[in-house]
Amino acid sequence: MSQWQIDSWRSKPILQQPTYQDTAQLEQVEAKLKSYPPLVFAAETRELYKQLGQVCEGKGFLLQGGDCAESFDEFNAPKIRDTFKVLLQMAIVLTFAGRCPVTKVARMAGQYAKPRSADMETIDGVSLPSYRGDIINSFEFTEQSRQPDPNRMVEAYHRAAATLNLLRAFAQGGLADLHQVNRWNMAFVENNPLKERYQDMARRIQDTLEFMDVIGINSANNAALHETTLFTSHEALLLNYEQALTRIDTLTGKPYNCSAHMLWIGERTRQLDHAHVEFFRGIHNPIGVKVGPTMQDDELIRLIDALNPDNEAGRLTLITRMGADKLEHNLPRLLRRVKQEGRNVVWSSDPMHGNTKKASSGYKTRNFDEILREIRQFFAAHEAEGTHAGGIHLEMTGQHVTECTGGAYEISDDDLAQAYQTQCDPRLNADQVLEMAFLVADHLRSGA
Ligand code: PEP
Ligand code: CO
Repeated sequence: MSQWQIDSWRSKPILQQPTYQDTAQLEQVEAKLKSYPPLVFAAETRELYKQLGQVCEGKGFLLQGGDCAESFDEFNAPKIRDTFKVLLQMAIVLTFAGRCPVTKVARMAGQYAKPRSADMETIDGVSLPSYRGDIINSFEFTEQSRQPDPNRMVEAYHRAAATLNLLRAFAQGGLADLHQVNRWNMAFVENNPLKERYQDMARRIQDTLEFMDVIGINSANNAALHETTLFTSHEALLLNYEQALTRIDTLTGKPYNCSAHMLWIGERTRQLDHAHVEFFRGIHNPIGVKVGPTMQDDELIRLIDALNPDNEAGRLTLITRMGADKLEHNLPRLLRRVKQEGRNVVWSSDPMHGNTKKASSGYKTRNFDEILREIRQFFAAHEAEGTHAGGIHLEMTGQHVTECTGGAYEISDDDLAQAYQTQCDPRLNADQVLEMAFLVADHLRSGA
């Protein structure tokens, strides 16, 4: 392979990018972003790398989740707070059940660029460029809104900075106190139609916290009980933005992408000889790559070797998104091959993207039971192959939306219209996502 440079991706084929009309303006924006402070610090990124190394060795679990696409309009404290809360609520359940540390990574503070299945969208005979995420153009279906605007990258940077600022404040400032997180879980269980199913674990967590209090381990004297670390991540799709935020770390002299702690390559842009793989191979962050059902065994090994040539644990997370019907046929062969070849990877399950359907009402949706079925099969395949089911990757929100069908509240196709708010893919709502955590916990507990 030729030598990596921060812009060597520019001479490779690239998919899923906007066509900017004004290239002078694009260059100005890139220069401006390059002069701005980084959003994260390389040492934090190394801490995540280390934690993922533990996950890789079977000593931890990765919980990654957030919006499909963050939105400039829905940019407010309650929204950030509510997603933060449910991530923490899930994490406490999974930690307790799995008896292992859970590394929390939000799809937040930068999840603004989206790959699309078509370049153009046609409504009532009018064709306009597809919406590609708020960092590129606007959702509104007008000629002007759909024009890619480089200044949106600067907007995205500022919003990511403010989001990250609030997440850091919540993580360190008391909102992450485990007693509090457990109280939220108790309230969830109390109100849930299937409360008997979840009560037992919630009570046991409660008892454990009370026991620790009695023997003198409490929030006042133990930081682990009242603070947490939440890392950030997004799909690094728009490479102009990602390059501008990539910096040489002064401590190690190595390039780090400082737009987030972890970045991933999407299913549609992971071609070995294309720009995204080229860019990613030179940054030193922990990275992910989506793996769909068409991935071939040899192709995967080549991709792993391009992205993690030194075979370091923690560097690479394979995020499988097969679909509940296809997983059984496609995941075991990949697990077997990667294990045979001795490649160190974290295996994480994205049970969302292979299970998207169009409801009879016309909404794009996903069914709770299908999502759960993919997760269960993911755990079963790992057990059968003797590999570690290392994590889950969810599209979710802390808000009470109606975008995915099913769950204890039995959201039906007809209910979707009530609160369908996503800019892109359907997300699990706060109740569905917690229910999912309790059900996944059953697997961790049984060792499945
Ligand atoms: C996503 O995670 O939002 C996404 C587009 O996923 P994928 O690349 O797996 O389709
Ligand atoms: Co999505």
